[in-house]
Amino acid sequence: MNAASPLYEPLNTLKPVASGLWIVDGPIVRMAALGGSAPFPTRMTVARLADGGLWCHSPIAPDAALFAAIDTLGPVLHLVSPNKLHYTHIAAWKRRYPGAVAWASPGVRERAASQRIEVAFDADLGDVPEPAWAAELDQLRFRGSRVIEEVVFLHRASSTLILADLIENFEAAKLGPAMRWIARLGGVLDPDGKTPLDMRFTFRDRAVARVCLQRVMAWQPRRVILAHGRCYPEHAEAELRRAFRWLE
Ligand SMILES: [Fe+2]
Repeated sequence: MNAASPLYEPLNTLKPVASGLWIVDGPIVRMAALGGSAPFPTRMTVARLADGGLWCHSPIAPDAALFAAIDTLGPVLHLVSPNKLHYTHIAAWKRRYPGAVAWASPGVRERAASQRIEVAFDADLGDVPEPAWAAELDQLRFRGSRVIEEVVFLHRASSTLILADLIENFEAAKLGPAMRWIARLGGVLDPDGKTPLDMRFTFRDRAVARVCLQRVMAWQPRRVILAHGRCYPEHAEAELRRAFRWLE
């Protein structure tokens, strides 16, 4: 890893996390932050289900080499948008894997329409694991925000929690001065990454959110995969208690 780079090289490369579970670090995306546009590193997660099919969470901007590597693992069956901000590249994946089911998160259809980004979603994620992956993955809708709900997952066999934006954890050494300042202000700077401040403000129903967090903690995750910044390879429960202390 190049500490001077904002990215997690090598990019678009399958990196094993546990048996049947990989992450792929992707290129920069630009997202709205403090009225401007900030560069974010992105990361997707791939799980192989018992039937050999692949479940792809938060698909990143793909390239031919990534598709080729994915094809060696198995057929892509599921393309998962975990929240209404993580969906942009599902269309590209769906073009390559037209038989895959594109799963919509709460509000993502409306969000995509408002951004004039066309994604042909096939089904909607609920509050319990879908039958297609219930044996391998646990699932819940993390409620309490009036603006954004993320669907969170646990890869049961490896006790790995998979998040998108509920915790962001940017490493200062990988950021320029402006972005470092924004990340510190947003409370998403490693080693104290958490839910971004603007998202925290939208959690009007904290009692409901606390129940969701308790359900996540009951899964007893051992590690946490994040979509942005440094993941938590160990001490997951302590990291979650720290990262969600704003909910107390
Ligand atoms: Fe994100």
